[in-house]
Amino acid sequence: MVDVLLGLQWGDEGKGKIVDFLANQYDIIARFQGGPNAGHTLYLKDKKIVLHTIPSGVFHEKLLNVIGNGVVIDPVSFKVECEEIESLGVNLQACMLISERAHLILPTHKALDKASELAKGMNKIGSTLKGIGPTYMDKTGRNGLRVGDILKNDFLERYQILKEKHLTILKQMNMDLQVDVEETEFFAAIAALKKYQIIAAEYWLNEQIAAGKKILAEGAQGTMLDIDFGTYPFVTSSNTVTAGLCVGLGIAPKHVGKVYGISKAYCTRVGSGPFPTELDNEIGEKLRKLGFEFGATTGRPRRCGWIDLVALKYACMINGVTDLIITKADVLDGMDSVSVCTSYQMYGQSTKQFPYDINEANLSPEYTQIPIWDKALSDCKTQSDLPENFIKLLEIIQQETSVPIAFVSNGVGREQLILLQGN
Ligand code: IMP
Repeated sequence: MVDVLLGLQWGDEGKGKIVDFLANQYDIIARFQGGPNAGHTLYLKDKKIVLHTIPSGVFHEKLLNVIGNGVVIDPVSFKVECEEIESLGVNLQACMLISERAHLILPTHKALDKASELAKGMNKIGSTLKGIGPTYMDKTGRNGLRVGDILKNDFLERYQILKEKHLTILKQMNMDLQVDVEETEFFAAIAALKKYQIIAAEYWLNEQIAAGKKILAEGAQGTMLDIDFGTYPFVTSSNTVTAGLCVGLGIAPKHVGKVYGISKAYCTRVGSGPFPTELDNEIGEKLRKLGFEFGATTGRPRRCGWIDLVALKYACMINGVTDLIITKADVLDGMDSVSVCTSYQMYGQSTKQFPYDINEANLSPEYTQIPIWDKALSDCKTQSDLPENFIKLLEIIQQETSVPIAFVSNGVGREQLILLQGN
């Protein structure tokens, strides 16, 4: 059986902490899409750790961690990340398995990412510039290099062909590039990558399922950044939704069990693109400050706004969410009141449907306001401690999404997670 945990907003929902919390219930944690654009933050005895490509189960003994075929790997940043984790005493050679079918990010993919963003000018996506888009383009364009290729005799030759192709495109975009330094780093990192277990992960995972092992598939980014269902073209280049795990790991839909959907109690977005409930004012500024909303991968300030239940309901539908988890609820303690978007006003009509083409000029969120609670959520330990007005907020979320809330996270600490009984 495979359960999946994924973000329901524009990423940064606090997935790392929840995977870390649930990890003990599983035998295997598997990443199925994305790459070093992700930043999953964990706290290990007060030490902050940000994982980018490595699955979030590596600090749990007995757990195995899989990087699936749907992931794109930058050997250079992966080497740095592995060395950091290994310096903390984790034996990655023993506990991490990499699909031979995962695609490689080349130095020139990163250059293409930059060139593409520059060319877009005002319309740039706000990419993390990790080479994600160009690598997935080469994958679907059938030009890409995969992890399994590094073990073949013709790898260097195939690398040169793809690099030359990229350099020609870059030249056409007025970027005359030398990649000698990056290339030396790249090949040193390829040598390091060979130390790890490179396997036919789809076979291995299905054997584990047949043997009764439990897998947790760990999503990266969020549903509203999905290449098909997100706010296109301001999205990432992979399928971040539940269906993505089937193609990103080679696991059939019949094996999928629980779908944990993570949403903050408010909303954030990094990079460009529509964000109907954005607060481009002092209230948004306050949320950013209280929630420490700065990108885990790029350090960029995140755009902040109220929770958007039109988008959340859409995300629950696309993913088939069975269990909602609301994170960073304690951040709202510092606000004067809380607003919840329950519908949009578009062209003079109220709608609860997430539109194909968000034109913010013609769209305004309709809010329900909740007075702030009289007790700090960060001090609550159990469900019965939760203040009435916060419960009202949870009830509205459940009513609009038709999905029960399983947990509320009310602080960064591992123990700051409240189980909601009867849900
Ligand atoms: P890319 O995936 O780096 O190409 O970036 C595409 C868009 O997705 C940009 O708006 C990024 O800011 C956003 N993005 C990518 N990865 C993450 C993530 O892990 N968290 C939040 N936003 C992300």
